[in-house]
Amino acid sequence: MVAWLAALLVITLTRSQVAESPWLMVHLLLLGAVTNAIFVWSSHFAGALDPSKPWHGRLMAAHIMTNLLGWVGLTVMGTLVTLWPTMLRTRIAENAERVARQALPVLAGSVIVAVSGALFGLRAVAAIGVAGYLAGFLWAVRPLAQVARAKAPAAYATWSVMAAVIWLFGSLPGLVVVLVGSPTWLQASDWLGLLVMPLAAGFAAQILLGAMSFLVPLVLGGGPTILRGTQARMDSGNALRATVVNAGLVICLLPVPAKVRALV
Ligand code: HEM
Ligand code: HEM
Repeated sequence: MVAWLAALLVITLTRSQVAESPWLMVHLLLLGAVTNAIFVWSSHFAGALDPSKPWHGRLMAAHIMTNLLGWVGLTVMGTLVTLWPTMLRTRIAENAERVARQALPVLAGSVIVAVSGALFGLRAVAAIGVAGYLAGFLWAVRPLAQVARAKAPAAYATWSVMAAVIWLFGSLPGLVVVLVGSPTWLQASDWLGLLVMPLAAGFAAQILLGAMSFLVPLVLGGGPTILRGTQARMDSGNALRATVVNAGLVICLLPVPAKVRALV
C-alpha cells in the first residue's frame, strides 16, 4: 500500500508530463492502495476467524472450473469450430455449425452447474456438472475429429492443438473422480492440484502455443514467399518439440523425484 501511495504521489507531482495521468491517479489510489488494503486486511481478519477453512476447497474448485472450463474451455471449443479446419487447410465439416450451436448450451450450462455445486459445497452436483461438460465436449469435438481424419495434422501448430484437446479430454474424468472420490473439500483441493498441470500446461499452454504458431506467421505476413519461410521456421523440429512437451508432461504426472519434474 505504501508503494502504491508513493507511486500516486509521484504521478500527482508529475501529472502534466504523464500520459493518462487522471486514470493513473484514480487507479493507483483505488485499485492499487485501496483494493490491496481490502485484500490484505480481509485475509488478515478471515484468518483470525479460521472456520472460513472448508471454503478454501470449494472456492478453489469453483475458481478452477470457472476459469479453465468456462473462460478458457468455452473460448477454445468455440474458436476451434472454424480455426481447426483452417489450420488443417481443409473444409469445415458439414454439421460443424449445428453441432457447435447444440454443444454451447450444454457446455455453458454444465459450467454453471459445476461451479454452483462447488460454491454450495455439493461435490456430487459439481461432479454432475463436469460430467455434463464432458458430454458437451464429446459432442462438440466430433466435427473436429472428422476433419482431422480426412486431413491428418502434420505441423507443430496442429499437433499442439490436438494434444491440448486430448489433455482436456483426459482431465475431465479426472476432475469427476476427484469430486466424487474426495471425502472432504480439504482433500478435494489437495487432489485438484494434480489436475492443474494437465489443464494449465497440457491443455491451455499447448492451445496457446499451437494457435500462435499458426496465427503469428499469418499476422506477420510479408507476401506468400516470406510467409512460407516463417511457417517453415515455426515448424522446424515439429515432431521433436511436440514429443518433448507431451512426454515431459506425462513424466511430470508420474511419481518422480522433484528434480526430475523440474528438469522435464
Ligand atoms: C484491473 C482493474 C481495473 C481496470 C482494468 C480498470 C479500468 C478502467 C478504465 C479503462 C476506466 C476508464 C478510463 C477512461 O476512459 O477515462 C476506468 C475508470 C474508473 N475506474 Fe477503473 N479499472 C479497474 C479497477 C478499478 C477499481 C478497483 C476501482 C475502485 C475501487 C476503479 C474505479 C474507477 C473510477 C472511479 C473510474 C472513473 C475515473 C474517471 O472518471 O476519471 N477502477 N477504470
Ligand atoms: C484476477 C484474476 C485472478 C485471481 C485474483 C486469481 C487468484 C487465485 C488464487 C489466490 C489462487 C490460489 C488459491 C490457493 O492456492 O489457495 C489461484 C489458483 C488458481 N488459479 Fe487463479 N486467479 C485469477 C485468474 C485465473 C485465471 C484467468 C485462471 C485460468 C485461466 C486461473 C487459474 C487458476 C488455477 C488453475 C489455480 C490453481 C493453482 C494451483 O493449484 O496451484 N486463475 N488463483
